[in-house]
Amino acid sequence: TACIALLPAAGSGSRMGVAQPKQYLPLLGQPLIWHTLTALHAVPRLQRIVVVLSADDDDWDQFDWSGFTRLTVLRCGGDTRARSVRNGLNALAAAGQNPQDWVLVHDAARPCIAPELVDQLIDTLFDDAVGGILAVPVADTLKQASADQHIAATRPRDGLWQAQTPQMFRVGPLTGALDHVSEAHITDEASAMEQQGHAPRLVHGSPWNLKVTYPQDLQLASLILQQRKE
Ligand code: CTP
Ligand code: MG
Repeated sequence: TACIALLPAAGSGSRMGVAQPKQYLPLLGQPLIWHTLTALHAVPRLQRIVVVLSADDDDWDQFDWSGFTRLTVLRCGGDTRARSVRNGLNALAAAGQNPQDWVLVHDAARPCIAPELVDQLIDTLFDDAVGGILAVPVADTLKQASADQHIAATRPRDGLWQAQTPQMFRVGPLTGALDHVSEAHITDEASAMEQQGHAPRLVHGSPWNLKVTYPQDLQLASLILQQRKE
């Protein structure tokens, strides 16, 4: 059974508040997605690393990607993250990808993923029937807000986890699940699998594996990557 990585990288980064899509913003002298690709490329078991770009992406070609020997670039991104992943998987299926193979879907916008963590995810799930995701237990106290922004209730955080990526499932079942769900409500692969009645595993991720969403996240990512280099 092969393992491949699929990176949705077709978003516009609207919450970042700058014109350039965040996956190309400079981070320690390289575009953000370069760091994500470097981390995944350091996992030998990932036979192929597939990037899903938007069809009108004009940033990718500005950089030299020749150092990444296992890279496949698809320009079939969709309107939502789920659609980008689904389009990418359908393209792989059409190109003969074995439906039994594992695919690790990883946000291009999570550049601080450690290769060791990807290895742990693969080790934990390789013989699993369904697959699972990296996630971390919620640390903060959770408040339910009323419409006028007062506290309506305090929610127990016991048993609550924050989903991260990679999310690791078999190509065939994940493609099927994404083909059948109502996309509007899907922000990760696991929820598509859940809608099919599966209960994916939760594998301990890391708080360092943050998603760059807002400008402050870019500063945090820079600190994390810088510290790792030292
Ligand atoms: N993504 C994608 N296709 C989309 C939307 C998002 O491939 N139509 C990708 C992003 O490029 C990113 C990952 O999915 O790597 C996580 O999505 P998110 O953090 O929401 O990125 P954006 O959608 O670009 O940001 P925003 O929601 O702030 O616009
Ligand atoms: Mg988004």
